[in-house]
Amino acid sequence: MSSISETLINCIKTTVHPPKRSLYGPGPSQVYPRIYQAMAQPIVGHLDPYFFQLSQGVQKGLRTVFATANELTFPISATGSGGMETAVSNFIEPGTRLALFVNGYFGERIGEMASRHQAEIVRLEKPWGEVFSDDEAVEFIRRERPRVVAFVQAETSTGAFQQSKALCDAAHEVDAIVIGDCVTSLGAMPVDVDANRIDVAYSCTQKGLSAPPGLSPITISPRAQERLRQRRQPNRSWYFDLSLISDYLTASHRYHHTASATLFYALHEALAIIDEEGLALRQQRHQKAHQRFVAGIERLGLAMHVAAGHRLWNLNTPRVPEGVSEPKVRAYLLEKHGIEIAGGFGPLAGKIFRIGIMGPLASDEGVDRFLAKFDEAMKETA
Ligand SMILES: Cc1ncc(COP(=O)(O)O)c(C=O)c1O
Repeated sequence: MSSISETLINCIKTTVHPPKRSLYGPGPSQVYPRIYQAMAQPIVGHLDPYFFQLSQGVQKGLRTVFATANELTFPISATGSGGMETAVSNFIEPGTRLALFVNGYFGERIGEMASRHQAEIVRLEKPWGEVFSDDEAVEFIRRERPRVVAFVQAETSTGAFQQSKALCDAAHEVDAIVIGDCVTSLGAMPVDVDANRIDVAYSCTQKGLSAPPGLSPITISPRAQERLRQRRQPNRSWYFDLSLISDYLTASHRYHHTASATLFYALHEALAIIDEEGLALRQQRHQKAHQRFVAGIERLGLAMHVAAGHRLWNLNTPRVPEGVSEPKVRAYLLEKHGIEIAGGFGPLAGKIFRIGIMGPLASDEGVDRFLAKFDEAMKETA
């Protein structure tokens, strides 16, 4: 096993020299140095006893951040879209009635995937940036009586957080299972899978968990497991078949695919960092950084796109002011200061900035440093 100094020597020898960036976009977010150190450790095989031992630690850490007792909780070897495809392909069969909440791009993406699996889709829509009230959600579900309900808890295309307790209660009332996209919320905001009664929640590693992209944590409730057992046909996706993946990761440990030990090391370390800080304290730190950001951005004369009380803490979406060029501001920040942020797309193209304040950057200093450079960028590109 190589020592850290050997690893550093190898770093010097590498052919890869990425520019130094501060990742203030919607993801990937800034990675803690400790995580890079974990990733520099030699890989073991995907069937090695150490891999499964580590994987158990990862499963335990994921239960904590999802706030669930679900036995079936593990990472899918894919980015967040792979978690989405796992949820959709396992719980939708041809003709399954899906009640879909769409108030942004990622709700649309769930619909795109579900239609490929031949769901019968009924939609409730809202303009990008708004959320569904409890009454609207409950009325929609009671009226449509679906088998599956899907919603996006943290809509990264708009910066809005969707509350889900009433929505999930209504779904359970009509015997539907609920799929929740928690790709951006996990690790930064309360996801509360069990308290909300979300049956299938998936996420990613590169946003609120502050690890590199490549894994998609997912958790499955006992109700949803029962639904899986009732499938009439096997999942049309072999790779994302939950029964095969769970057999590999949690039961027989028989080969299914060659999981990346390196990415598991990274996620293990990211979860250890969260455990050391404490999940509640970490969430509070993100909330505090968000409040400081909003106060600062309003002082600069910008307005937030999403109404107060419905905003994501770790992804802020201020509106682009009159006379400011969103692409020029972004280019200035990247070229001059190595700061990455993103703009809006779809109906919000050119209208909002998408600014992530997550993980190691969610501090007073991280917010103040960003606001100073952002102010400079707006003035210099005017
Ligand atoms: C809400 C949401 N769902 C799904 C995805 C897809 O994740 P990935 O890009 O990791 O495949 C994203 C990515 O930004 C997202 O924000």
